[in-house]
Amino acid sequence: MGRIWRVSGPLVIADDMKGTQVYEVVEIGEQGIVGEVIGLEGNKAVIQAHEDTLGLRTGEDVKGTGKTLSVELGPGLMGAIYDGLQKSLLALAENTGSFIKRGAKAVALPRDKKWQFTPKVQAGDKISEGDIIGTVPETELVEHRIMVPIGVNGTVKEIREGDYSVEETIARVEHDGKIRELTLMQEWPVRKPRPYKDRFDPSGLLTTGMRILDYMFPLALGGKASIPGGFGTGKTVALQQLVRWAQTDLNIYVGCGERGNEMADVLYSFRKLKEPKTGRLLLEKEIFLANTSNMPVVAREASIFVGVTMAEYFRDMGYDVLLVADSTSRWAEAMREMGGRLEEMPGEEGFPSYMGSRLSSFYERAGMVGCLGNPTRRGSVTVAGAVSPPGADFSEPVTQNTLRIVDALYALDVSLANKRHFPAISWLTSYSLYVDAVRDWWNEFDPAWEETRARALKILQQEAELEEIVRLVGPEALPEEDKLLLLTSRMIREDFLQQSAYHEVDTYCTPGKAGLMLRTITKFYDLSREMLNSGAGIESIRSSPMVYKISRMKDIPNEDFAQTAGELWSEMEGSLVARKRVA
Ligand SMILES: Nc1ncnc2c1ncn2[C@@H]1O[C@H](COP(=O)(O)OP(=O)(O)OP(=O)(O)O)[C@@H](O)[C@H]1O
Ligand SMILES: [Mg+2]
Repeated sequence: MGRIWRVSGPLVIADDMKGTQVYEVVEIGEQGIVGEVIGLEGNKAVIQAHEDTLGLRTGEDVKGTGKTLSVELGPGLMGAIYDGLQKSLLALAENTGSFIKRGAKAVALPRDKKWQFTPKVQAGDKISEGDIIGTVPETELVEHRIMVPIGVNGTVKEIREGDYSVEETIARVEHDGKIRELTLMQEWPVRKPRPYKDRFDPSGLLTTGMRILDYMFPLALGGKASIPGGFGTGKTVALQQLVRWAQTDLNIYVGCGERGNEMADVLYSFRKLKEPKTGRLLLEKEIFLANTSNMPVVAREASIFVGVTMAEYFRDMGYDVLLVADSTSRWAEAMREMGGRLEEMPGEEGFPSYMGSRLSSFYERAGMVGCLGNPTRRGSVTVAGAVSPPGADFSEPVTQNTLRIVDALYALDVSLANKRHFPAISWLTSYSLYVDAVRDWWNEFDPAWEETRARALKILQQEAELEEIVRLVGPEALPEEDKLLLLTSRMIREDFLQQSAYHEVDTYCTPGKAGLMLRTITKFYDLSREMLNSGAGIESIRSSPMVYKISRMKDIPNEDFAQTAGELWSEMEGSLVARKRVA
């Protein structure tokens, strides 16, 4: 047991801390505020407090817990709302009222709730780490697979079936004459990546329902992406759309220090949302982590690692998990604050020099893996993090460091947001290095994808190149071919890429509908070129009813769209034939 020697904001230095370890969790002062040892100097421990340190006095006790910052993993996670230290905000609110007291204790997984456990192994079976020994139907949408904890191997002596709470024994395993009791729950230290058997490249499309992602800049299962954007450009809405619609097994939302009311908003609206395929409540496949505004900024770091550890745990069951973090800039700012208090040599713009490696220690936990244990299975963690560069200046250190790590960039553009073109993802500066990783997926689904995508991107590129000329001479001075190109690129932008998160139908677009929409536009382009060649004027093309019909494609429900597209195509072909007859 040590004593407080000095307090400076979230930084606490404690004396007489011999025997403590770096990253050990300590309880500070009478209230037992949670802190993490981040450095040792002789008998002194440098501690990062994860709760407000106001009022702490020198000489108060500091107790080591012998543990590193860990999370509880087991049934009860789905639908939970936690703070960055995995305290259940719902349980805390019930116990202590809506204002959460410092040092308040709340277990992460409910202790009294009984879960229905169905074993998958029998007495006498040999089991080893990662094996699935049984299942719990945690929600209608997620089956919780109970795994042998890492480091445990042996022979099953006894396995139970029935209703158990997370602390009750469900199995006894013998190894070297010693008996180990297993429960539905296990723990894992958050800063240590969970082990796996093999690592694979990300592959397969993570379907998001957002056309500009799925079709243009795809995100692969196991990939890592960044969404940088200036103030109010749509970062939060984009991440919410992702966790809402992504066709993954489950999703984790980490709100690391965005405005308190914004977070409350998210949580409130999310608790009522339904999952599109099944109509079940979305929170049946969702975990929320939120740092409330009365927590110190440094706790943001904990929430990021708590979140990604939970993601890995479900990955290890063989699931595809998406984790979004809003916004990693707030976390980087916390590192800067801590670095300043530690009087470290600052790097660029005052951020500590290790910021890049800290960011990558988070993003690198994304991936597609072969899981440990039986049965053989693959799982993935996909990560998307928002970045909030001050003044929307992407050359600042957090954005730049993040771009070195991620393989997909969704760059939010202030001028698009100002024009209310949403999602304000720039088609000129965004990229995805996962095109190869999703090729097989798309080829099986829609063999025209690759070619159509490339054509559309080229048309948008050509439009950007023509812009300068248009500025100088005006659009009407352009040749007819180019006028048609501009008409087509406008269609791609407005009738395909633009997609309102708030439109009842358009909020989610299936990859099938997205493909048909874009092919309708490229078909319009091809047929109109033939029209031009057979003597039609651009005016007649611009004023054709087709232009209007294409602009309404978004409103047509996903399941009805194949028929609509068929009608549009025959109508377009019909008018070309008619035109040729006239000519
Ligand atoms: N996909 C979208 N569809 C429709 N409207 C959108 C979309 N994305 C953003 N918006 C509009 O932009 C507004 C701001 O979006 P949002 O709050 O996500 O921005 P932000 O980048 O998170 O802002 P901040 O920098 O304040 O965190 C929304 O309230 C909404 O009106
Ligand atoms: Mg936001």
